Amino acid sequence: MDCDQSRRPMVEALLAYRAESPLRLHIPGHKGGRGTSFLREIIRPSLDLTEVPGLDDLGSPAGVIAQAQDLAADFFGSDRAFFLVNGCTAGIQALCLATVRPGEEVIMPRNVHRAVLAGVILAGAIPVFLPVREAPGWPFVLPPNADEVAAALNSHPQAVAVWMVHPDYHGVTPALAEIGAMVHQRGMILLVDEAHGSHFGLHPDLPPSALSLGADACVKGMHKTGGALTQAAILCLQGTRVESGRVARNLALLQTSSPSYLLLASLDAARSWLATEGTVRAAELVGMVREVRRKIAGLGGIRCLGAGDLPGEVGRLDESRLCLDVGGLGMTGVEAARRLRRVHGVQVEYASFRHLIGVFSPSDTRREGSRFLKALRGLVAGVRNSKEGVVDAERLPSWPGLPPARLSPQAASLTPSRLVPEGEGVGEIAAVAVVSYPPGIPIFWPGEEITMGALSYLRQVRAVGSGLQGIRKPGWLEVCA
Ligand SMILES: Cc1ncc(COP(=O)(O)O)c(C=O)c1O
Repeated sequence: MDCDQSRRPMVEALLAYRAESPLRLHIPGHKGGRGTSFLREIIRPSLDLTEVPGLDDLGSPAGVIAQAQDLAADFFGSDRAFFLVNGCTAGIQALCLATVRPGEEVIMPRNVHRAVLAGVILAGAIPVFLPVREAPGWPFVLPPNADEVAAALNSHPQAVAVWMVHPDYHGVTPALAEIGAMVHQRGMILLVDEAHGSHFGLHPDLPPSALSLGADACVKGMHKTGGALTQAAILCLQGTRVESGRVARNLALLQTSSPSYLLLASLDAARSWLATEGTVRAAELVGMVREVRRKIAGLGGIRCLGAGDLPGEVGRLDESRLCLDVGGLGMTGVEAARRLRRVHGVQVEYASFRHLIGVFSPSDTRREGSRFLKALRGLVAGVRNSKEGVVDAERLPSWPGLPPARLSPQAASLTPSRLVPEGEGVGEIAAVAVVSYPPGIPIFWPGEEITMGALSYLRQVRAVGSGLQGIRKPGWLEVCA
């Protein structure tokens, strides 16, 4: 290791990224402050403060934080808003703790974000997973449909809440209004992870917000597409199904006692920006992306995930997010992303087999759309007739189904663990979640039995090139001791 203490590897890397100045088709959605001039106003060392007299207290707000939260609640159409300085993650965990008691059931898609897993572990809840349905020809899982949710509600009438992801990472939403009505009819709570949907509802061609579709509570990743600083997010409550006092108590347990006022002020400023300029920005975003999508269709070799690729029973597609299949160019998504960055000056959000995801936000304009198109034209021109091998989403093995749960996620997480060679793991109980990306399905959750089918799936997804999260040592599995 280089122990030269004058070096600052992180600072150097950040400055190098800024100097390179790629088109940022990734999160955070303020895109380096472009379009969000308010950030330049607040990112100053002199404003890096925490709770001093006059600046209120995030744990029990009664002054400026309370006012800013009330303005956010009003703008997002909720009854109560809480500012989050540890991302949507803290909000999701607090909602789990505020709605579910130990041993109670919560219904959710299998591919929820790991923040929900953490919330389930903390709360001692029992997850009930909705069926997994892979999107044909694309390496991701479709949102659950209303029939699947209805079946789960019927077979688990004692469940207390249902989590929905609105939208998922690819921009696909479930039919939330229909699902919410069924959930409420049974007296359950609809909790929504809207981490990627802060810009929803700003334009008729964007999906409506979860609150407008009946969510009792949602978290909004304001740093993802809403213009705020990284880690800044908002939790919104609507109605009385989720007790706001319980949410506040649990947020106080989970969040730092020294919240950064840069993050908090960025939430305040981003909310005001969305409220005053959001509809104009969203209209420009929608028009720009429509044009980009139309022109991508004419390039040849690149397919853009569109609403027509999705079955009718899902909700909407957030068309501002571009999920591109570049397999027709004879290259993998990872290779395309590498070339886009190195040769054409574009950094995308994510890349896998033959796909990549680019995230546009209300900070982007026609200029960014044109720059991306120019880069894609360069990519296409540079690789025609390439003979590179492409890993196809069709080659992803089929999900083998849920392994049996032997312990609750909390019990498994609190139990000491040991590592066993993968081949000896069958019959053991997983101590940690192992998730394959793509397609983003947890193969086991903590507490689930490692079955032959699940192990064989793990090996097959690895063989086709999927990444695996939750593996501490290659070839070994962490199981309950
Ligand atoms: C669907 C989803 N939910 C929740 C989160 C967690 O959000 P945060 O990073 O704001 O903690 C993420 C993060 O990427 C996410 O993709």
